[in-house]
Amino acid sequence: MSARILVFGGSFDPPHKGHQALLKAAEEKIHPDRVIVIPAYHSPWKRNSSALPEQRFQMAKLAFPDAEISPLEMRSRRRVYAVEILRRLKKENPDAEIHFVIGSDLAVRFDEWKNPWELRKLARWWTAIRPPKNGKIPASFNLISRAMPEISSTDLRTRLLMGEEVSGKMDSRVLEWINQEGLYGVSILSKLKKILKPERLLHSISVARLSRNLSSVWRVDSFEAALAGLLHDAGRSIPVSEMKSYCQKRRLRIPLLREVSAYQPILLHAYISEDISRRIFGIKNEDILKAIRHHTLGAFAMGNLERLIYVCDTCSEDRNYSEAAQLRELAARDPQEAFLECLNGKIRHALSLRGWIHPFPIQVWNSLIL
Ligand SMILES: [Fe+2]
Ligand SMILES: [Fe+2]
Repeated sequence: MSARILVFGGSFDPPHKGHQALLKAAEEKIHPDRVIVIPAYHSPWKRNSSALPEQRFQMAKLAFPDAEISPLEMRSRRRVYAVEILRRLKKENPDAEIHFVIGSDLAVRFDEWKNPWELRKLARWWTAIRPPKNGKIPASFNLISRAMPEISSTDLRTRLLMGEEVSGKMDSRVLEWINQEGLYGVSILSKLKKILKPERLLHSISVARLSRNLSSVWRVDSFEAALAGLLHDAGRSIPVSEMKSYCQKRRLRIPLLREVSAYQPILLHAYISEDISRRIFGIKNEDILKAIRHHTLGAFAMGNLERLIYVCDTCSEDRNYSEAAQLRELAARDPQEAFLECLNGKIRHALSLRGWIHPFPIQVWNSLIL
């Protein structure tokens, strides 16, 4: 009988108990002679992978101690498609029977993979029966008929960032390693605790929670939504009287700096928060940085994440003005209308103060309704 090789591919960002359960169930079904786990260098389907390939390789070693962890994709320093892996494996093991197992979220998109017809010839394909939210598992797949835990890596990353309990969802060795390496922003909350006053920290957590809860309706990544929410006021602890000099010292490029410093210096905190997020928290993702920079005044052509943080900042659970709950409810069903309502409310509030009004919100309003 020819040798059986079981390949398990995925991003493993991070690996969790759902992955472990799937592999175990596949092993029980297939009885392989060799098990190879291949952490993808960069999965074509996941744009916001937040651990480095080497880190995902290490986590896979901890999560699957009895399997061979292939460095193939990681070493290549480029995207490697499943068809390339299988061609190579077949060449090295011409008589082997190759089985490939993937999560059902990947299986439903199998026809978009490179050379699906060749993939079907090179291996037998397996996935769990967990019903996918969107799409159908192709008929060519063998189903592992065992209920799998409902865990997603994206959700786990966000939970880790928010300091929530994850021990039931991931292996303790992986969790320990994540904490030790400070992956997925696990140390952000404790750093924020040191620089923000307690009520500002509560507000930031509140904005992060709401942004994360609304992320699927607003079509943004939940981890990015939570991260931008947590950091949006990171510069708020700088005394208002020192904000102008902070901006000058750091040479921050701020439109209308003279007027803003004279009439509404508190607005400078958005630019300072962006600077602190870059410098102290090491944020490089420009979408997150823009969302932080524009959370008070808005900007032209704002993306979904920027708009989400802008809205959540004004109606997070800790806001106790009368319309906040209504705005939250609107934001949960109509992002565009919620953004307009929020902008409208901010302009009305600025007018009611009878002081200088920054032109940005008015310009943004005009750009949206004309
Ligand atoms: Fe703010
Ligand atoms: Fe805020």
